[in-house]
Amino acid sequence: MSDSPVSARHPVREAPKIASPSEAFSWRRVAALFAPNRGRVAVVAVLVVVGAVLGIVNPLLIQRVFDDALFGDAGLDLGLLWTLVIVMVVVAIGSGVVGVVQTIQTNALGQVVLRRLRDRLYQHLQTLSLSFFSGARTGDLQSRLSSDVSSAQNAVTTTLSSILSNGITFASALVAMFLLSWQLTAVTLLAIPFFVLATRAVGSRREKYTLEMQAENAEMSTITQETLSVSGVTLAKLFGRQQREIDRFTASSEKLSATAQRQQVIGQAFFTVVQTFLGITPIIAYLAAGYALDGGTNLTAGTIVAFTTLQNRLFFPVARMLETFVELQSSRALFGRIFSYLDIEPDIVEAEHPVRLDADSVSGTTAFDNVHFHYPDAAVASLGDVTFTAEPGQLIAFVGPSGAGKSTILQLVARLYDPNEGAVNIDGISLRDMSFESLALTVGFVTQESYLFAGTLRDNISYGRPDATENEVVEAGRAAAIHDRIMEFEDGYDTVVGERGFRLSGGERQRIAIARVLLSDPRVLVLDEATSALDTASERRIQEALGELIAGRTTLAVAHRLSTIQAADVIHVVDHGRIIESGSHDELLAQSGAYAALYREQFGDGEVETECADGTVLADGSLRPHDHARTDGEACRRLARA
Ligand SMILES: Nc1ncnc2c1ncn2[C@@H]1O[C@H](COP(=O)(O)OP(=O)(O)O)[C@@H](O)[C@H]1O
Ligand SMILES: [Mg+2]
Repeated sequence: MSDSPVSARHPVREAPKIASPSEAFSWRRVAALFAPNRGRVAVVAVLVVVGAVLGIVNPLLIQRVFDDALFGDAGLDLGLLWTLVIVMVVVAIGSGVVGVVQTIQTNALGQVVLRRLRDRLYQHLQTLSLSFFSGARTGDLQSRLSSDVSSAQNAVTTTLSSILSNGITFASALVAMFLLSWQLTAVTLLAIPFFVLATRAVGSRREKYTLEMQAENAEMSTITQETLSVSGVTLAKLFGRQQREIDRFTASSEKLSATAQRQQVIGQAFFTVVQTFLGITPIIAYLAAGYALDGGTNLTAGTIVAFTTLQNRLFFPVARMLETFVELQSSRALFGRIFSYLDIEPDIVEAEHPVRLDADSVSGTTAFDNVHFHYPDAAVASLGDVTFTAEPGQLIAFVGPSGAGKSTILQLVARLYDPNEGAVNIDGISLRDMSFESLALTVGFVTQESYLFAGTLRDNISYGRPDATENEVVEAGRAAAIHDRIMEFEDGYDTVVGERGFRLSGGERQRIAIARVLLSDPRVLVLDEATSALDTASERRIQEALGELIAGRTTLAVAHRLSTIQAADVIHVVDHGRIIESGSHDELLAQSGAYAALYREQFGDGEVETECADGTVLADGSLRPHDHARTDGEACRRLARA
């Protein structure tokens, strides 16, 4: 018997590569996201410019109010004052309206782009193969989809429009100030480097604390997710580690609040710096005006008032832009992360011209032709030289020690992975060439872990055939020996199960999964029998359900139950990724090889069948390794009761 591990001479496929966010990022890609909405982008840009320009109209009019209307050469001019006041009020209201419209447009644009990005990401993730999802790094997928994308949207709407509008406000204010007095403008510009230095000094700390906050928030949610899940809580309880977990949480919580406090204080400090500067700059302007007048420059009171009003429109955008540049850095990272996911190439793709099978004429002959398979990034190959054919109507069983590669063989039948070498064919067509739809219709899979999603039992059963009639669903429920159990629920097939609903036992879940597959009626059936201990009654029911399921299809099963193994047309013994023996139960026993040894180990040497007093033959195949320990008498009584 070959015990040697499968050789690694065939090419090893690498796990889907994830580019680093900084590699994946480019402004061009961000811009491309907006391309389909060029019109709206233009509208936003125009509104921003109009808003910024409107913003300097009133400060300039202030000059006229002072120098012409209030203290003009001809004294007070009430008529002109009224005109100016009305214009200024209209401009103020106009700016407000433009601001509101701009906000609405910017948000709408942001939402459209966000939705496109989110949908694309989800769609893309759906096309990736199992090897991507079984990687450890996918724990953060959900946060990618929800939080990254919405933060990115925030970056789009706030950051980009802020850079634009603040930039234009700054520029227009500067131009207006030059028009009023280049001397005062020069003095003001001298103050800008000091302003930048002061705000940067505070700002960089603020950034640091914000980053710390994010890290600590993430840490905290990791702890809660880990430890407040059913399995996490169970683990902590069973190992008496609850105090440890509480301590871990408390420590993280303490760090979080300390940082939050620092962050709030520094945030306040930032505004104080800005406010102080805004308070001081007009004062300097007055001083500068004094010296300018002293030097013989012609400066009116109106010019000085208008000028100091404009100063606010100069410094405030600078402060906002400094902040925005920080945000820009983090949005680079956000977009980079999203792009890096979008860049992962799906490794299982539909052929360009896929072969569609005619559902009615599929025979279901399933053949492995010299299949080698290596899990992406795994150290050693999992399958080597696997060759066999399963004819229509046959039940093919795979047995072998745990880790031998049995489940892997089954996964290849459903093309959850592609072989590295060789091919898996159904009706002579390689799965690589078959359309995804045909494959899904042809192959039905009952997995070890029967997954029920949040929804009604009906939804769960009709998942593969949403258009099934009520009768068909009930029929499938009956055939899977779960109908009676379902009817015990008050809501019957409308009972909500899964995530937020009623929890079913492992055996019940499995029978639901069998009903699901029965309803979609595949030609090729793949069964990874549950090894989890089930009670005898539910084992027997599953047995009934399985019998129903197997009839008339090509069935490939990883079998643990003696009845399935004995009923198999061919048993393949798998070891270290290779088929080392094949034959019927009796043939293999007679060979006294690996199968015989495995059989003795799992089911004991002795005669496992017992005839009960009433003539029923016990050991109906629901035997598991520990089962032969039960006494015949008790087992018979149990059988009689069931
Ligand atoms: N997703 C995976 N990535 C890497 N290696 C895997 C993966 N799944 C299974 N393996 C490895 O492949 C081998 C065969 O596993 P499997 O087919 O599940 O065995 P069996 O079903 O016979 O118990 C084992 O060595 C296992 O560690
Ligand atoms: Mg397995």
